[in-house]
Amino acid sequence: MRILLLTHAFNSLTQRLAAELRQRGHDISVEFDIADSVTEEAVALFAPDLIVAPYLRRAIAPAIWSRHVCLIVHPGIVGDRGPSALDWAIQEGQTEWGVTVLQAEAEMDAGPVWASASFPMRAVKKSSLYRNEVTQAATTAVLQAVQRFASGNFVPQALATFTAPRGRLRPLMKQSDCSLNWERDDSATVLRKMHAADGFPGLADSLFGEPCQLFDAWPEATLRGAAGTLLGRRETALLRATVDGAVWIGHVKRNNSIKLPASLAFQREALALPELPLESYWRSDAATWQDIAYAEQGAVGFLHFEFYNGAMSTTQCERLRYAVRWARQRPTQVLLLMGGGDFWSNGIHLNVIEAASLGQGSAADESWRNINAMNDLALELINTQQHITVAALGGNSGAGGCFLARACDLVWTRETVLLNPHYKNMGNLYGSEYWTYLLPRRVGLDAASAIMRNRQPLTAQRALEIGFTDACLSGDATAFHSEVARRAAALAAAPDLALRIAAKREARERDEAVKPLAAYREEELSHMRRNFYGFDPSYHIARHHFVHKSPASWTPRHLARHRDLGWRGS
Ligand code: COA
Repeated sequence: MRILLLTHAFNSLTQRLAAELRQRGHDISVEFDIADSVTEEAVALFAPDLIVAPYLRRAIAPAIWSRHVCLIVHPGIVGDRGPSALDWAIQEGQTEWGVTVLQAEAEMDAGPVWASASFPMRAVKKSSLYRNEVTQAATTAVLQAVQRFASGNFVPQALATFTAPRGRLRPLMKQSDCSLNWERDDSATVLRKMHAADGFPGLADSLFGEPCQLFDAWPEATLRGAAGTLLGRRETALLRATVDGAVWIGHVKRNNSIKLPASLAFQREALALPELPLESYWRSDAATWQDIAYAEQGAVGFLHFEFYNGAMSTTQCERLRYAVRWARQRPTQVLLLMGGGDFWSNGIHLNVIEAASLGQGSAADESWRNINAMNDLALELINTQQHITVAALGGNSGAGGCFLARACDLVWTRETVLLNPHYKNMGNLYGSEYWTYLLPRRVGLDAASAIMRNRQPLTAQRALEIGFTDACLSGDATAFHSEVARRAAALAAAPDLALRIAAKREARERDEAVKPLAAYREEELSHMRRNFYGFDPSYHIARHHFVHKSPASWTPRHLARHRDLGWRGS
């Protein structure tokens, strides 16, 4: 079928659906929901059999839904309606939630149901639920709905005919529905309220007497103080006392500013707070905020790096490089680079770079520092000589993050992971992280340039097929971790491990003799220098729009295939 994805943005759910539907032989094109007239034009050009709307922020125009079947993905159980579905589900402590695929009609979220899927809730941020459980359930339900539509004989079920659905119409959640009271709320309540508003819109509160939005809450097991007081800082996070403990605040958005690591958003004020270092570097058993954590099982080291949104600032890259060096001194044989729960890495930290331009600094200089710190980290991994390194991707990865993973000897992904191993979407950025060395040797020169040019997401399955990754593992996050640990232990115990490590060293020496890594880096950086300091400001403009979440004014041509001249012939 010809399916048009009508969406507010090409977010991870939309990317996943596009890839899954394409894999099933459907002809897919994407249009951003910018204005009714633009959508009508897209529909006229593409003449879709079906319209699927994975992520919309407003209703579809009657002129479209009255003539075409439009399937809306609603992140709520059957009967649930309204724009704050997940926010309410988290706030109310629902134990099971779901996704419903319903047909667009005059009344919002009230059309007949084509499919639904449910999942158990986890006590995590809304964005994490969305990227994991919701995306998985939505994929299941959309694929079922599309199959039902294709069969031609399925009649969707009117909402009124469901017997006692649990869901109901809920209003937009307002800040007053979830406001914090640090003198009364316990840590569990603070965590739940902050999770319900993360990553958007954040929880309205104030710090240092100034109103702001809070994000990225983490529990603290041991430190305590007078309720409401800021107790200290650790790296990028601030600790605030509740009535029965304390909660770490990782990210903050001040009014008229952007979302930033808390210690950067309030840089001057945070410096006056006491530093609260971890008692034992990299390791910790009790719940606390720790962005880099190390654990060991026999001959296998696990290095976790939980960087918010997968973005890696200059300092984070430097600290992670230090942690890699430290981990390599341990008596282990396999080093697993675990990344974070939702993302492995999304490359340089565009918000921190943008922040440099908001103050006295220079975004170009900060970009340069950040890409060099990423490169130093990638180099550290490429040159690891006594261990087999494995990037274990339980979450998505984009841009330089994909090549940082490829700097490891092996890359294993969870089967639901999406990879975007390309840079051009960010204002034609050339990219570095030794991609010109790492990518062609895995997929070949032609495929490498096609990946960079086409800028399409790769599913985990596709990434394995083309040789970009080395394994695609099924199961939920827990099953993925167990399987990764099992495989790593087997690798460490393999009788040919020493031979394998020696072979990788020799291969590296051969490659170095043909063309030194320094030459790849210099070539890439000569392009990046132009991106950052040259006369064409595309990268700076694209970053500004990305960070400030500017609404799209058109759909990029590589997504809106129906807008290509002569697309029908292809
Ligand atoms: N720096 C800072 N923030 C980043 C980031 C980066 N490199 N990559 C993603 N984010 C943030 C987004 O702004 C968003 O923030 P929010 O919490 O305020 O909503 C959040 O991470 C999730 O990103 P989103 O785009 O919604 O996730 P996705 O899973 O739909 O898409 C990507 C993932 C990687 C395709 C997309 O985020 C992207 O293009 N990122 C930029 C990658 C890049 O160009 N890096 C620089 C070159 S190395």
